[in-house]
Parts: sequence; C-alpha cells; structure tokens
Amino acid sequence: MKKMLDLLTEEMQKAFEAAGYDAALGKVTVSNRPDLCEYQCNGAMAGAKQYKKAPIMIANDVAAKLSESKVFAEAIAVAPGFLNLKVTEEFLLDYIKGMAASKKFGVEEPKHPKKIVIDYGGPNVAKALHVGHLRSGVIGESVKRIARFMGHDIVGDIHLGDWGQPMGLIIHELQLRHPELPYFDESFTGEYPAEAPFTIAELEEIYPTASGKSKEDPEYKAAAMEDTFKLQSGVRGHRALWDHIIRVSVSDLKRNYQKLNVEFDLWNGESTVHDLIPGMVDNMKKGGYAYISDGALVVDVKEETDTKEFPPCMILKSDGASLYNTTDLATIQMRMDEIHPDKLIYLTDKRQDLYFEQIFRCARKTKLVEPETELLHIGFGTMNGKDGKPYKTRSGGVPRLENLIDEINEEMLRKIKENSANKGYEVDEEQAKETAKIVGLAAIKYGDLSNQPAKDYIFDVDRFTSFEGDTGPYILYTIVRIKSILNKYKEQGGNLDKAALQTVQNDSEKALVMELCKFNATMEAAYEESAPNKICAYIYDLANEFNRFYHETPILVETDETKKAGFIALLVLAKNVLETCIDVLGFSAPERM
Ligand code: ARG
Repeated sequence: MKKMLDLLTEEMQKAFEAAGYDAALGKVTVSNRPDLCEYQCNGAMAGAKQYKKAPIMIANDVAAKLSESKVFAEAIAVAPGFLNLKVTEEFLLDYIKGMAASKKFGVEEPKHPKKIVIDYGGPNVAKALHVGHLRSGVIGESVKRIARFMGHDIVGDIHLGDWGQPMGLIIHELQLRHPELPYFDESFTGEYPAEAPFTIAELEEIYPTASGKSKEDPEYKAAAMEDTFKLQSGVRGHRALWDHIIRVSVSDLKRNYQKLNVEFDLWNGESTVHDLIPGMVDNMKKGGYAYISDGALVVDVKEETDTKEFPPCMILKSDGASLYNTTDLATIQMRMDEIHPDKLIYLTDKRQDLYFEQIFRCARKTKLVEPETELLHIGFGTMNGKDGKPYKTRSGGVPRLENLIDEINEEMLRKIKENSANKGYEVDEEQAKETAKIVGLAAIKYGDLSNQPAKDYIFDVDRFTSFEGDTGPYILYTIVRIKSILNKYKEQGGNLDKAALQTVQNDSEKALVMELCKFNATMEAAYEESAPNKICAYIYDLANEFNRFYHETPILVETDETKKAGFIALLVLAKNVLETCIDVLGFSAPERM
C-alpha cells in the first residue's frame, strides 16, 4: 500500500495542477498545529515567488479545487497562505481496511530485495558477556528483524572474538596449571579426551588471571605469544584445546543470547577466516596497495578530502602476525565470495568509528567489495549508570549481563506482585516469575532501543520497569489490555474474524486510526535509517492513542452490535500492529501481567 502521506500529497498535487500551479508544490505533511488541523500543506507559500502572487491567493485557488474531494473533508486556506487539512472518514476507513487485509499491514514487498549481512553481538570467547555486549546484541537483532520484515534477505553473523592473543594466554595458563594434560605432550598421538578440562566458570576466571599476569611478567607474555603462534600454525594439542574452549564458551553464549531473544544465523568468528589471510595479503601486495612501513605491512587509506591526518590501515604487524583489522578484511572477502551481499552492516561501540572507516576504505581500495556494495557501521553510545558514568555493579565492577537481567527481573516480579495486590488478586509465584522474565526483557530492550543508537543513555531500573510512561512494560500492558478485551468479547459469543471495521465515529477513535495509518511509513523509515527508536516512538504514541480511546469509549457494553464489532476490529488491528512492532524490536507480550 502507498503511504498515507503520499496519497494525501497526490490528492493535493492534483488540486495544485487543476488550479493552474506546479503540482510539485502539493506536498502534504503532518500538522504542526494538531489543535487546528490534522495535516497541512505549505506549497502556496513556496509558490508565491514563482507566480508573483500572494500565497493566500494561491491557497484559496487550491482550496476551491478541493471542495469536492473524497480525501479531504476540510481544506482551509489561512493567512498568510497555509492550507489546513482534515481527512474524510471514508478515506480513513478505506485505508485501514486495506491495512487489515494486507499481510504486512500495508508494507509492500521490495521491488529489489537486498542481500544483507549484519555483523553484531561480537562477544569474545572465554569471557563472560558483560553489559558492553548488550547494546550490540539488542540493537543488531532489531535492525536485522526490521530488514527481514521489510522483505530483505538478511543474515546475522555473531563474529566471535575467538582467535588472537587471548587464546594463547588461556592455553599458557592451562599448561602452567595442568602440565600433565596430553594436549601439552608433543609426543602424544592418541585421541584427546572428549570432555573439556575446564568448566565455563573456570574459563572465565582463567582469562583475566592470565591477562593480568602477562601485563606484569614479560616472560609470561612471551610464552603466551608463543602459544598463540602454535595455535595459529596448527599444533595439534593446541588446536584440540582451543576446540574445547570454543565449545564450552559457545554453549554458554547460546544460553545467554537465548535469554535475550537474540538469534544468530551464523556463528563464525575471527578464526573462520584464518586460512584466507595469506591469499588476501598476497593480492594486496600484488595489486600494489600494501607496502612495508616501519616493518609493518600497511595500506594507505587517506583521501584528498580529509581535513585531518588519516592513519593507514595495518594489515600485518612487523612480526608477521595478523590483527583485528586483518581478520575483519578477510571476513569481508569471505562474505563477498560466499554470500554476495549488497550491503554489510556492523554494530559496535562508536569508539570503533574510525576503525571501521579505515576498514571500509581499505576494502574499497583493495577491491574486496564491489563499488556499489554498501558498507555501514552503526556505532552506539555507552550505557551509563545514574551517575552518568559507564554502568557498574554496586560493588563497582563491570556487571555481567546475567546479573543485569536478574536485577531487572527481580524488580519486575516485585512490581507484578504489587500490581496484582493493588487489584485484589493473588498471582501464582511460578507464573509471575515467567511473566517477570517476559516483561523484564521488554524493559531492558525498550529502555535501550528507544534511544537513538549513537546516543549514550542511563540505565535506570526504576524507570525502565515502570508500567507508566515511555517504557517497555507500558507497551506490554497496553497489549495485554487489548487481549483481555478481545477475550471477553469472545466469551460474550463474539467472533473476531467476523468483526468488520466501521466508519470512524469520534475524535479519539479517529486519532487512533490515524496513528495506525502511520505504520508502513514508520517501518520504512526505521529500516532506511537503521533506527529502531522510530518504532519505539511510534508504539508509544499508538499505545497512548489506544488508551485514550479506551477510556473514552464504552466498548463491550455497546448495544449496537455492528458498532461494537467495528470497535473490536479496530482493536484487533491495533493489537496486530503493536505485536508486529515489538516482534521486530525483539521482545514479546505475555497473556496477562
Ligand atoms: N569482538 C569485538 C569486541 O569485543 C567486537 C567485534 C565486532 N565486529 C567486527 N567485525 N569487528 O570488541
């Protein structure tokens, strides 16, 4: 379906043309004076110069052409030359009927679906997920779901940090602790044990310990580098141990991401492209792009338009070791070869902005991508505590993601119990806990996604878990309210499938309908600008309009059955639109709360 504003603009353009003016002047926008009108057109003001006429005269001419319009119920020319507009009930009814009958509520399939790879999450194996990883997972999952809903073919890849120095550190520390293990016996030719010689808890302790030691002790560091080298050159015992590290870590990561309702299509990592590096480096040298500078292999990525010094992209260190850059570039090569994407999207902290600019320039210059391949880095801001500094636990450490989720869920449980006690009913403890998990996830995700990705935000448990205001729980509460009305309607013998939309009756109903009509335009903007926050803002408005309508309209007690069925059909559409929106944001609603 066409977007509402486009239809209104088409009608307005016809009127401009019919009145003898340039059709291009007929752009309709949402009113910035909602007390006066629903929409407006400022084209007469813009046309004044061109036609050497007072804007109000042009506006009057155009308004006259709209007196019979089936789209505009009101088109009033006001000084100095605005056109104040209201739409007809018939037009609105037609539009929402179209939405209700359409599979994606008015969103059409793209003419040219894109193939997209999105690289998000990006956790490092053997390290606990901490809150710093939250945003990449949460925003990335939503950006992916929005693109998928819009009809694009998008593949999500976790891009594990599973290869460099940290792996050598872990292996070295393990060797010091358990020298007797067969992995360290170079003469061992048998089968290595199937069981890992450590648990995830041990692994998460080993890495920081080893990393700490390596900073103090140069010998320890050198030995760990040696182990990194052995792993990367394929020493059998090192590879077997590494396999264990990956398996133990990945199963823990899967459990955690599942809690967050974040799903990856590909679980590739830095290690996946290890074998592609020599070939890629060769090509960069042969193409004349890479050269040696201070012993390291680099590619210049300066551009003439740069106003600041732009550092070259390092491909290999002076000892020949690869870096974070190298694996990212080789990953681009692999994705281009295997998936042939039109677009690559990356989600990381915005402190990596410059890094990705280098990588993208280098990939273009060395022709790893096609000239038309789109490369997008979405750099997000920091999640801060109430003190405005990066969020810390009460004891001052970087909190594990799990603890953060537990903290929200506990508060959610308390609020759910309090809410039911206020309403005078008792909740089943187990059920309340399940509900708290669902609502808690919405609290976390909405709290994050309702901000523009690039902005820092304050993680505020009290505010995020509130049932009122611009929060996830408020949105879910609204959906649950609609579900409950629909259930009661069914209990009264009503049939949801037979309920047909009826002409819009009163102001709050019209406002709700007009909000619903913005769905396809909102989704499109959220997709084009990679901005889940637009969907949050939309469902907040929609929930507010629904609640106003609900408070002003006796629905289930309505005696005119056709009219009642009309309200119900509107509720069904509102519920479907809200549920579609929260699904692309990556959370869901409970049955009751
Ligand atoms: N593992 C990295 C980190 O923890 C993030 C990876 C982001 N993705 C990428 N392709 N570089 O900082």
